[in-house]
Amino acid sequence: MIVYNNGVYCRLSQAAVSVQDRGYQFGDGAYEVIHYTDHHGVDEDWHLDRLDYSLTQLQIPWPMSANALRQCIRHVRLLNKLSTVNIYISITRGVPATRDFAFPKTPCAPVLTMIPYRHKPVAERLRTKGMTIITAPDQRWGRCDIKAIALLAPSLAKQAATEAGADDVWMVDTQGCITEGSSCNAFIVTPTGEILTRPPSHAILKGITRTRLIALARDAGLKVTERPFAVSELKEAAEAFITRTTGFIIPVTWVDKYSIGTGHPGPVTHNLLSLYETFVQEQKHGRFADTTRFVV
Ligand code: PDD
Repeated sequence: MIVYNNGVYCRLSQAAVSVQDRGYQFGDGAYEVIHYTDHHGVDEDWHLDRLDYSLTQLQIPWPMSANALRQCIRHVRLLNKLSTVNIYISITRGVPATRDFAFPKTPCAPVLTMIPYRHKPVAERLRTKGMTIITAPDQRWGRCDIKAIALLAPSLAKQAATEAGADDVWMVDTQGCITEGSSCNAFIVTPTGEILTRPPSHAILKGITRTRLIALARDAGLKVTERPFAVSELKEAAEAFITRTTGFIIPVTWVDKYSIGTGHPGPVTHNLLSLYETFVQEQKHGRFADTTRFVV
């Protein structure tokens, strides 16, 4: 596999970053994951807008222009002969002269890496039976709106889910409301058919898939309300699902060993997935005109 490593395209086994990189020592960096299908980046512009937001919040300069970055991503895809792929892009603050918690006085050059991950379609079991999840306290930091590379808390939460035999974890704030999944946004459908998801704030990452899906659902006349929902509402929901770049929309059918609704993926989730898949095809063929910018 060929990766992009701060100015050079090289084999994965030859790609290395400094042990003094602020990303390595402080988790000081931002990232994005963009899904390409037949060389088309699904909402690529929005991902780059969100990357800009994360970098701005962290005061890390762009290592190159957004257009140059697009070209690098393209080269990575072409060099690996991968047209349908997930590209992981990471930008860290770089290598300072000395270790200090404050940003280096003499700014260092940011370090940009890109790794293509082969796209695995959502497993048959998850598509047809839905995911099982556990709930767990949200122990992340207070700026989850930044797509920061420091991922220890969600990683521990996901490990707890794995050890409990579940597919994922939905995290719970101190008020007893769901924030989001370990690496996805969380939705429920109420018994009256209303779609609920938490509004953007510092408590969640404003997902690209989430934002697109809400717009598509509203255009289709569905009622989507952005408000926090409690674990008790999740357990009484008719349906639940997650959204994320690498899986689009995946049903959730069990939570903490309780079945959600019928315990099978429901019609609203199916409908939303098909709306989203249609959108991906339309955007790929240039038939989906939307020049709006992504605002966090
Ligand atoms: N994760 N919330 C969190 C905490 C996430 O890490 C992600 C994505 C999402 C969904 O955002 P989007 O729809 O823009 O992918 C929500 C990526 C896929 C990852 O870390 O691999």
